Amino acid sequence: MTPSFETILLDKTEGLATITLNRPQALNAYNVQMRDEMWQALEAVRDDPEVRVVILRGAGDRAFCAGADLTEFGTAPSQVVARQVRFERGVWELWLAIGKPFIAALHGYVLGSGLEMAALCDLRIAAEDAVFGLPETALGMLPAAGGTQTIPRLIGASEALGLMLTNHRIDANEALRLGLVHRVVPRDRLDGEAKALAHRLLDRPRHLLPLVKRAVRHGMELPLPQALALEERLALQAMAGA
Ligand code: COA
Repeated sequence: MTPSFETILLDKTEGLATITLNRPQALNAYNVQMRDEMWQALEAVRDDPEVRVVILRGAGDRAFCAGADLTEFGTAPSQVVARQVRFERGVWELWLAIGKPFIAALHGYVLGSGLEMAALCDLRIAAEDAVFGLPETALGMLPAAGGTQTIPRLIGASEALGLMLTNHRIDANEALRLGLVHRVVPRDRLDGEAKALAHRLLDRPRHLLPLVKRAVRHGMELPLPQALALEERLALQAMAGA
């Protein structure tokens, strides 16, 4: 059974799960409740053998996610405590350890932890209206939803530091140029394009997607000789249909 949440919608259609950030009145800002529910949603898609591909999107017209919920700063549990808890629970590690490909469908504001969540996904499609930025340092914080590690791995340290240190916002075409997103599409085609991409992945042999993801994600953390040995092992598994 698909669990239901307040800040997130989780929908499953055949092999495709869709996680929708669902606080449109607050531009889908990421709060403590959303963190807890994201944790459960991630476990649900990880543990559901029918789910093979996941789309992450934001509800409403204006934003994928405008970052951490600023109204929780200084409240109990404070953002600092919340971040500590988040580290302890390792939601980002959980996300990265899931072998199923995640596609982020990005529109409107994609700020702070919104951009960081997109960076935890494997493929990113942006609508033409998407605006990207990392305002954390301007707010006295570190981007700590994995962003200091995932974003340099996507666009290189120099461009990542530029985004983090300057709080400079970029548009979808600049994000495409940097390699932060894979494609830019008209706003009204975003959901359709994300689904079409998901269905292309669903057409691949079932066992291959986690193996390819592991080869790249795990391999990039290894010295080249070990990474090549990993590739060889995974290629043998792929041929065996494991
Ligand atoms: N946390 C909590 N609420 C947020 C939010 C956030 N990060 N971002 C937007 N909201 C809320 C606003 O408070 C507002 O709520 P209200 O209608 O009850 O007043 C609603 O979402 C709409 O936002 P608003 O600021 O009125 O829209 P805008 O078009 O004038 O500005 C932004 C849009 C994204 C530029 C602006 O909302 C903003 O700067 N948000 C904060 C971004 C940020 O710093 N994120 C933290 C990253 S660590």
